[in-house]
Amino acid sequence: MTSFSNYVVPLVSFSLFVIFVLKWFFNPASTAGKKLPPSPPKLPVIGNLHQLSLYPHRALQTLSKRYGPLMMLHLGSVPTLVVSSADAALEIMKTNDLIFSNRPKVTIPDKLVYGSKDIAFAPYGEHWRQVRSICVLHLLSNKRVQSFRYIREEETDLLIQKIRQSSSSSTSVTNLSNLLVSLTNDTISRVALGRKYSDGEAQGSTKFELMLKEIMELSGVFNAGDFIPWLKWISKVNGFDARADKVIKSFDEFLSGVVEDHRNRNQGKTDLDDSSNHADLVDLLLEIQRENKSSFTLDDETIKAVIFDMFGAGTDTTYTSLEWTMAEALRHPEIMKKLQNEVKQVVGSKKQVAEEDLEKMLYLKAVLKESLRLHPPIPLLIPHQSTQDTKIMGYHIAAGTQVFINAWAIAMDPMNWENPEEFNPERFLKNTALDFRGFNFEYIPFGAGRRGCPGITFAVTVNELALAKLILNFDFALPIGVKEWDLTEDSGSTVHKKNPLLVVATPSC
Ligand code: HEM
Repeated sequence: MTSFSNYVVPLVSFSLFVIFVLKWFFNPASTAGKKLPPSPPKLPVIGNLHQLSLYPHRALQTLSKRYGPLMMLHLGSVPTLVVSSADAALEIMKTNDLIFSNRPKVTIPDKLVYGSKDIAFAPYGEHWRQVRSICVLHLLSNKRVQSFRYIREEETDLLIQKIRQSSSSSTSVTNLSNLLVSLTNDTISRVALGRKYSDGEAQGSTKFELMLKEIMELSGVFNAGDFIPWLKWISKVNGFDARADKVIKSFDEFLSGVVEDHRNRNQGKTDLDDSSNHADLVDLLLEIQRENKSSFTLDDETIKAVIFDMFGAGTDTTYTSLEWTMAEALRHPEIMKKLQNEVKQVVGSKKQVAEEDLEKMLYLKAVLKESLRLHPPIPLLIPHQSTQDTKIMGYHIAAGTQVFINAWAIAMDPMNWENPEEFNPERFLKNTALDFRGFNFEYIPFGAGRRGCPGITFAVTVNELALAKLILNFDFALPIGVKEWDLTEDSGSTVHKKNPLLVVATPSC
């Protein structure tokens, strides 16, 4: 006969489980009695993870239309505030910027940058402040960006030369995406590392570019263990950890080689003057390390992490934005025509674009801005995290909450934008004060506040010059047999075009 305990033990266990799930579902203990932002219903264990889809910025926009501009999701066990309006973004990145300037720890980036010793993933604090200010001062400030003008000019000329070579006949197809990747990688390599690391390798994707591509891909992959800690084993079993360890090791060897080369080259030299000596970022970081003047120690891992950031945060985003801009201009022949007219008229009989011409190319600037509105390369920015309990728009936000700021949804909000779905550069000509430097919260493709992108000037100067030269030098057409320009998005934390931009380029001058 079955004993009494055979019934009671499972019954009690089941009841406890139901109580636990209901309690977790409706009333998390730490926030009982506090007014929380609205949340869509969640499932046990995974919470709202299933609602993110392959295109989280789009899925979150849809949810925010129902639940509002401040919405609380539970991604596994990670409470996540989703911000989807300009007013709410201002509350987070201006009024309460200090509280929301931390970053959550995410496995792959953390491993890649030696335990978050870089800028982009470092927790808010002294280390972050020091490395960020070194990079801004020596690489990303307006003055430094101006001093690299010759590099931008040479690299954009090379881009034009490569397109001419690859478009030898009127039907030759050029993979513009690949060439734009090389342009941004090579430009950043030269200013940060002093030379190109694709030198001597065949055209197309070089070993260095493939390594970076793999890293960017892995950084965008959904890693269940980051949200549900007891599922960490999955990434071991499915080979994700091994794949990540392999590329991290190769990149570490590459970065260690770069640091050693610079160290050997600079032995015996004192007082590297960054402007006269053409010292690159690694030279300057090593000099700061040698001088060891402040309490802050710049160890080799930090130097490698900072170099990594310049590529990780700088190349993918910059080329992606140029790729989207070209794709949109090609899809809108009337916009392409206006662009060509402006560039030709400003350049005149010189037949060559110089950087000072760009100031007069207002339509070109508007096209780049509109492209960053419709296609912000990092639509959810880099996640922020709160460091203390606070109230935003009347809602309680607990310390340690992860924050996604949906810059894409904000830039598509009909409250602030007329016909937001339309690619219409004129809107930026009508309102020239509307800028992406973090003061207009309806338009924040580079983020805003303390954690806003420090590479804006760097990126914009390369992209404006490259776009003007492309437009001046070529007419572009679809490859034979292709009916229309494709603008499908890929998935990932940086949103690229899913398919490379293939063009038939005919020299126009
Ligand atoms: C079109 C090109 C670019 C776009 C759209 C872009 C966008 C962004 C965004 C959205 C963030 C996060 C802001 C936030 O979390 O609030 C960011 C951070 C960052 N970006 Fe950029 N970026 C671009 C180019 C660059 C370049 C060229 C560099 C450097 C060479 C760079 C370096 C960084 C760094 C170091 C951070 C981390 C800042 C921090 O956490 O303090 N970016 N960028």
